[in-house]
Amino acid sequence: MPQARAITRWEEFYGSTEVVRRYAQQSRLQAPERTIFEQRIGAALADSALLDLGVGGGRTTANLARQCLRYVGADYAEPMVQACRERFGGLIAHRGLRFDVVDARAMPYEDASFDIVLFSFNGIDLVGAEARATALQECRRVLRPGGHLVYSSHNLNWLDSRRGIRWSGLRSYVQTQWFWSRMRRLNRAAWPIAQRDWVELIDPLAGGCNYYIRPAELVRQTLAQGFEDVQCVDLLGREIDDPQQRAQLPDAWVYVHARASR
Ligand SMILES: C[S@@+](CC[C@H](N)C(=O)[O-])C[C@H]1O[C@@H](n2cnc3c(N)ncnc32)[C@H](O)[C@@H]1O
Repeated sequence: MPQARAITRWEEFYGSTEVVRRYAQQSRLQAPERTIFEQRIGAALADSALLDLGVGGGRTTANLARQCLRYVGADYAEPMVQACRERFGGLIAHRGLRFDVVDARAMPYEDASFDIVLFSFNGIDLVGAEARATALQECRRVLRPGGHLVYSSHNLNWLDSRRGIRWSGLRSYVQTQWFWSRMRRLNRAAWPIAQRDWVELIDPLAGGCNYYIRPAELVRQTLAQGFEDVQCVDLLGREIDDPQQRAQLPDAWVYVHARASR
């Protein structure tokens, strides 16, 4: 018998028809994902077993599933997994793709069974501050030594400045004002954030908690969970090596590429 699990707000949010529909229409890789897969992983992708964690509606599947040897998409929101199975039915039949309902905090996969684990578009920020290390340890466990971890997190620097916001008309202005005033109201206890390395805030739209972290702390946490060669990549796809630059990086989220320690 499967164990009964508490349904979180996020699981509910990502399982809702409208959100699934929106995610299942997406198919473009983000610039940092392109940099990491083309330049840092490169030819190794062709021989790899890839676990696409928090796969959502299959945005990354559309780009990566044909390029690797074995592809598994996993998400804890069953309607997302179902949408992927429908969207990629042809590839499932011809290339043996798989989509599993799986929680990143306790995965059913064997140790060292993947060459690449991707947890794209800030999915890890939804697992909760306490379980974050567990999720990273799970990624480390299922990766072979030297395997590639690719993931992203909301950047706490961006919350300081919100420089990433682009105004595009009155409607978006009003929506953004509403979002930030509610964000502050819901998270009064968390401010001021200037001295923090990370913070967990209630999301005004979904009601779940979202994690924001400084790039230097993101690197530190990744190293602490058994990874090496950790690199940050910004939203334009540029590798950010310099600690000074990392400290000032204003992007809304930051990608990380790391290797499982050998
Ligand atoms: C922001 S969406 C990104 C979806 C997709 N990766 C993309 O980039 O379009 C985050 C996804 O992570 C999934 N997710 C969140 N926490 C998870 C967990 N603990 N285990 C598995 N999936 C999770 C959500 O259900 C959702 O589909």
